Amino acid sequence: MGDIEAIKQHEAALQGSVTVWIVTGLLFMLLPGTLLGAWNLIAISDQRGAAHLDPAWIQAHGHAQIFGWIGTFILGIGFYSLSKMRGLARFAVTRSWASWALWTSGVGLRWATNLWQWQWRWMLPVSAVLELAGFLLFFITVRGHRSEKNPGESGAAGSQVWIGIVVAGTLGFLLSLLANFATALQASFFGANPAVASDLDQRLLALFTWAFPVVTIWGFSARWLPVFLGIANPNGLLLRIALVINTSAVACAVGAWWIPATMLFALAAATASAGLRIFAHPNRPPKVVGVHPSFPLFVRIAYVWLLISACVSLSAAGWDKAGGLWGASRHALTVGFISTMVFAVGQRVLPAFCGMRVLFSPALMFVALALLNIGCLLRVGSEIGAYEGYLPALWPVLPVSAVFEITAMTLFAINLIVTFGQVPPHLRSLPKTGSGPA
Ligand code: HEM
Repeated sequence: MGDIEAIKQHEAALQGSVTVWIVTGLLFMLLPGTLLGAWNLIAISDQRGAAHLDPAWIQAHGHAQIFGWIGTFILGIGFYSLSKMRGLARFAVTRSWASWALWTSGVGLRWATNLWQWQWRWMLPVSAVLELAGFLLFFITVRGHRSEKNPGESGAAGSQVWIGIVVAGTLGFLLSLLANFATALQASFFGANPAVASDLDQRLLALFTWAFPVVTIWGFSARWLPVFLGIANPNGLLLRIALVINTSAVACAVGAWWIPATMLFALAAATASAGLRIFAHPNRPPKVVGVHPSFPLFVRIAYVWLLISACVSLSAAGWDKAGGLWGASRHALTVGFISTMVFAVGQRVLPAFCGMRVLFSPALMFVALALLNIGCLLRVGSEIGAYEGYLPALWPVLPVSAVFEITAMTLFAINLIVTFGQVPPHLRSLPKTGSGPA
């Protein structure tokens, strides 16, 4: 009896800490990320180019979105699900809080340093060390414990291919943070300001996106999508091949060998989509209880964005003149693929992780996903036309795309925060005092 009570308390503590991670991620997404991104975009559209904008501000936005939002979500979900799966709950909770404190101060400090540049030669490496320390605490907590096969799993998914992919994504995360630390040190010794030089930044971004969130999403897709979409288990061999191709692509990109890198990204994206059977006909009904029925459609749209992003980056490697093709491919990836996946799968799993709750509003989920994708379409199309000078009449569309995306992000955050504030259904019917039926 005592043991059961202790397990319940640990579960509640784990759920409390994952909720704080998720809310922190949402705050990074809304203010340092999206608001600053929209501010930058309005300035760029006003001046018909990014030449007058401080690159440190653009990088502050990118860092807040990739590490502050996506990284924070991945760490929180990782602490929760990996700790539960591997029976580490007892000490994982304390580590989770310590990691959260280090990570949040690191990412927050980086954002503030890029914006206000106070003592930046010190603050830049300090922020990178704090981020690395927060991550390493996570890494040592979940590393090296033998995974247990989940009952009921068989075949390719049962072979736990997804764990291998998530581990690869985690290593990509570690490499990204090490590279971030090295560039922070370099800027602090030799730079004139906290901004990373643009050619190095471009190479780093390939690592920060394709090696870490993209791979992690493939891993969690292999884990959850067969059940959520009603599709067959993933093809483990194809997924492993996609991982090898993607790793080679990242290596080429880091070496600034752009044409082979982008060709390989396109091949990796196509192979991963085939391996996950995203576009295959479902063989049973999707599980959409508690979410909007359009959920499977948006997951597939996200993978279409992944393919679009890879193809646009291939054209960027050949023809980009003013950053429009690179910017469009980056946002097709970050907003179209990564954010759509987080909006869709996040609203499917997070209410349960954060206290066995039910999503506040499936309708709001649909509106957020629809606005996000309309905003992304406007952004990607107009960024190519306006920045590259093919169709300057598209400049005024850019701020409109920002309004769509900000509204989408805000609705997503509201839906999750209201969900976390509600009493979970399993507690609603409990008697308030001990006077209920025995
Ligand atoms: C309201 C939504 C968003 C707006 C208005 C926005 C705006 C911008 C702008 C204006 C830039 C400068 C480069 C360019 O013109 O393309 C930029 C760069 C970037 N954005 Fe966004 N963005 C948004 C959402 C996101 C999201 C959701 C992510 C990631 C999950 C993201 C990641 C990045 C990255 C990594 C960069 C490159 C930063 C660098 O150069 O180091 N953005 N964004």
